[in-house]
Amino acid sequence: MEVIRSIGGMQHTSDRLRCEGKRIAVVPTMGYLHEGHLTLIRAARKAADVVITTVFVNPAQFGPHEDFERYPRNPEGDISLASNAGSDFVFLPDRSDVYPEGYRTYVNVETLSEVLEGKFRPGHFRGVATIVAKLFAITKPHVAVFGQKDAQQVVVVRRMVQDLNFDIELIVVPTVREADGLALSSRNVYLSPSQRTEAPVLYRSLLLAERRLAEPGALPSDVIKEMSSLISNTSSGVIDYISVADANTLEELHRIEKGRTILVSLAVRFGTTRLIDNILVSP
Ligand code: PAF
Repeated sequence: MEVIRSIGGMQHTSDRLRCEGKRIAVVPTMGYLHEGHLTLIRAARKAADVVITTVFVNPAQFGPHEDFERYPRNPEGDISLASNAGSDFVFLPDRSDVYPEGYRTYVNVETLSEVLEGKFRPGHFRGVATIVAKLFAITKPHVAVFGQKDAQQVVVVRRMVQDLNFDIELIVVPTVREADGLALSSRNVYLSPSQRTEAPVLYRSLLLAERRLAEPGALPSDVIKEMSSLISNTSSGVIDYISVADANTLEELHRIEKGRTILVSLAVRFGTTRLIDNILVSP
């Protein structure tokens, strides 16, 4: 396993691998790797000859009052976990190389970036799309692996890949959960013991939605009310949003049509920790 820190070094390595006929998979991460990331690396391992894990806490996707400074970091731990999961390279660039003095170029995926998370985190997906496009230009992958946990990110990146003609296959890996249903997230470390006990209600509310949406005539607005009551009555969580939307366009649904894939998603704050989760439903 090799650690590469320079952009030029990474590009040179990817060029060489491509010349050797190797299929390259990239797993973009912000580090502090957990089992969810390792599942992405294992999926990449199966899909390609060479796996590059990128570790970069991207300032461009954090708002001014968000947790960029306190976002958990453990590069040495990340290197050993990525290696054990089957990564061949870890790309660990410096902030000043990724965004040097005078940096001016950003990628904006219109509309899809403005709803759901985008409403609460203006500029977030502009930062995500920009860094993902840059990581694609640096690692030159054939395949890129993302987690379904960040459902809107997947929709935004998919649109960007299509619109900017990146010749890259996207693989989306199902969310990895704790035994009690809590989706794995680097931010779970911020939860107090009592918040950690309450947080699995998010997944229970998503399972409730899945059951209710399978019933003929179920209305998204009723389902959202039920989810909201469950969360508010059994936890201290403050709901930012609960959404029942088309999984591809992210348009809110007012009634359920057979054949559509539905994304039920939510964001809930436990104290200062904001958790997101989602489920895909095909009634
Ligand atoms: O999902 C993440 O960890 C980040 O949003 C990503 C894709 C690595 C971009 O910084």
